[in-house]
Amino acid sequence: MATINKPLKPKPLSKLRSPILTLILCISAIALLYLFFSLNSTDGFSFSSPKSTRNSVDKPKRQHTIHEKYLYWGNRIDCPGKHCDSCEGLGHQESSLRCALEEAMFLNRTFVMPSRMCINPIHNKKGILHHSDNSNSEERWAESSCSMDSLYDMDLISETVPVILDNSKDWYQVLSTSMKLGARGVAHVEGISRVDLKENSHYSNLLLINRTASPLS
Ligand SMILES: *[C@@H]1O[C@H](CO)[C@@H](O)[C@H](O)[C@H]1NC(C)=O
Ligand SMILES: *[C@@H]1O[C@H](CO)[C@@H](O)[C@H](O)[C@H]1NC(C)=O
Repeated sequence: MATINKPLKPKPLSKLRSPILTLILCISAIALLYLFFSLNSTDGFSFSSPKSTRNSVDKPKRQHTIHEKYLYWGNRIDCPGKHCDSCEGLGHQESSLRCALEEAMFLNRTFVMPSRMCINPIHNKKGILHHSDNSNSEERWAESSCSMDSLYDMDLISETVPVILDNSKDWYQVLSTSMKLGARGVAHVEGISRVDLKENSHYSNLLLINRTASPLS
């Protein structure tokens, strides 16, 4: 803390022995102050801010606006493909998830994320499933699904593409609003290109686009 002993009163330059040294000290003092204030604003070093304000700094709650529109892909991430009833491998499902998020980004819509993802027992022989040859695929699916928010960081994803889970309060609110709006609220679209969904005002004005594929497709 060499700066503390320095007089704050400006002196004529001629009296200073080394203006360069003074300049360096000034810069380091400013740097120290800057460091102090920036540390102060993060959660790691809170010198003065009380705990109550820290929480809001830690986790800024995403604000849902009334202008927000939604994209629904069915209650399983694979549904717009042909795998609504079976449980595909994780790689397959991850690419479905990517497609879904990319489409939501393209359409500038909030993605309604299935709250669970199935884990194919074929890829988890050692873990979840014991020998149960006569259980059907539905039972197997239920036995071996994971909650989505245990697999993915929703807040982190939402920084790029806003997402809500299909078991959340937000989603139930969207559903009830879309029912009130009727035909302007929701449409189940099939075989319509994403460009149309974005540019055709018939679709782009909808609160909710339902892209669930027919299981028979
Ligand atoms: C995307 O949607 C938000 C509302 O969720 C809106 O404020 C914003 O203007 C939209 N951006 C574009 C490029 O349409
Ligand atoms: C979406 O469409 C599918 C197929 O028509 C339907 O079964 C499902 O209930 C719809 N979901 C919503 C939220 O509109």
